[in-house]
Amino acid sequence: MANQLFDFGLIGLGVMGRNLLLNMADHGFAVIGYNRSPQKVTELENEIVPGTMVKGTSDLKTLVDSLKTPRKITLLVQAGKPVDDVLTELTPLLDKGDIIIDGGNSHYTDTLRRVQYMQEKGFHFMGMGVSGGEEGARRGPSIMPGGDPEAYHHVKPMLEAVSAKVNGEPCVAHLGKGAAGHYVKMVHNGIEYGIMQLISEVYDVLHRGYGINNDELHEIFRQWNDGELQSFLVEITRDIFLKVDDKSGNRLVDMILDKAGSKGTGKWTSQDAMDLGISIPTIDVAVSMRNLSALKQERVNAAGVYPAINKITGVSKEDIIQQAREALFFGTMISYAQGLALLFVASKEYDMEIPLPQVVKIWRGGCIIRSTLLEIFYQAYTGNPRLSNILLDSHIAALVKSRTDNTRKFISSAVLSGIPASALAASLGYFDAYRSAVMPTNLIQAQRDFFGAHTYQRIDEEGIFHSNWQ
Ligand code: 6PG
Repeated sequence: MANQLFDFGLIGLGVMGRNLLLNMADHGFAVIGYNRSPQKVTELENEIVPGTMVKGTSDLKTLVDSLKTPRKITLLVQAGKPVDDVLTELTPLLDKGDIIIDGGNSHYTDTLRRVQYMQEKGFHFMGMGVSGGEEGARRGPSIMPGGDPEAYHHVKPMLEAVSAKVNGEPCVAHLGKGAAGHYVKMVHNGIEYGIMQLISEVYDVLHRGYGINNDELHEIFRQWNDGELQSFLVEITRDIFLKVDDKSGNRLVDMILDKAGSKGTGKWTSQDAMDLGISIPTIDVAVSMRNLSALKQERVNAAGVYPAINKITGVSKEDIIQQAREALFFGTMISYAQGLALLFVASKEYDMEIPLPQVVKIWRGGCIIRSTLLEIFYQAYTGNPRLSNILLDSHIAALVKSRTDNTRKFISSAVLSGIPASALAASLGYFDAYRSAVMPTNLIQAQRDFFGAHTYQRIDEEGIFHSNWQ
């Protein structure tokens, strides 16, 4: 106990953990990192910036004994069982009042369970989303803590120091009760899936459908990123088109197999939205298309059975590029709208008290879905923190409305040429249904009552009705 020198500990020295620890050290904190593998410890030690106080260890007890009390330890290990395994190993070494933070992409229900488990043992436990990838962790991520207010109080100055900054303000805030931090991060990732799918569809239409090459695509995305579509995902896409493959000399993007991986957060967003009865079709489609992409051989076989033209004609290059820009803007808006509408409901249903103005505020910098649009959403929520759907904000409505015509045209070209644009179509379908004062659901109710006596309501009279349809 004599050597309690370090301010913060971190378990899991993968690249995210290592970078976050080095980031803490850059801000003057004395930090110690643990990994079972000595090689990971060496990797950390090799990157220590002179003048900073960083230590690595592959002995968990050394980590615990080296920390000032109450100890503040962040976990950045793979979600799922590894988190429970670490807690099982760690808790016997801790003292009551110590603070453990799970900074991984844990499922929020696991976090709720762990909060309870750790509380019973006398420890503080907080779930915290961290977004920004490797670079974000090193230079400034967006950080989404939630739950235990006392735990947050102890780590707030450190989190504010290491987080990204927008207009001098840190991209971290306490985001509500229970597992709110991990819930917000899950939905962040759902939106991320949606936007990535939308970008890939726009790319497909322009590239495969219209024959626009990588250099031109780079230039198109460069212009977009300099304008209203400015965002991290558009920015990296711009750069992807130029990257040359060391092995073949071709553009690397053309050499990558079209099978998408996923670690589950997008799927969890869809699953939870289904449980809550919230419509997020853009995100659902994004998850679904990654699943379909995995069936590579089956798709190749099906392409033989159903050959497609996949060439877009009858529209000028200038027009299709303009339509693409507006369609991506439109779809991106809808993807955010769906995710935020889910947060609005989930916050109430799960009693999380998620402050939506703070959520969009801290997403403005550091995270994967950062974009200039977040500033617009922040203004909307500042004006009305109880906004159930950002599409109801008048400024946002004007932005969306002015892009619908070109979005329709762009999707029509995709549909006519047989290029899948499912997330764009789902975004437009969601929009058209959401702004429909009348839906054809009267017919569904009639069918349900016809075959199952499920009853219906009437437009002219209060009450529940059933008819004999035969
Ligand atoms: C982030 C990202 C990150 C996520 C990866 C991979 O915010 O930094 O969301 O947390 O793990 O993007 O996710 P998939 O493997 O599911 O695409």
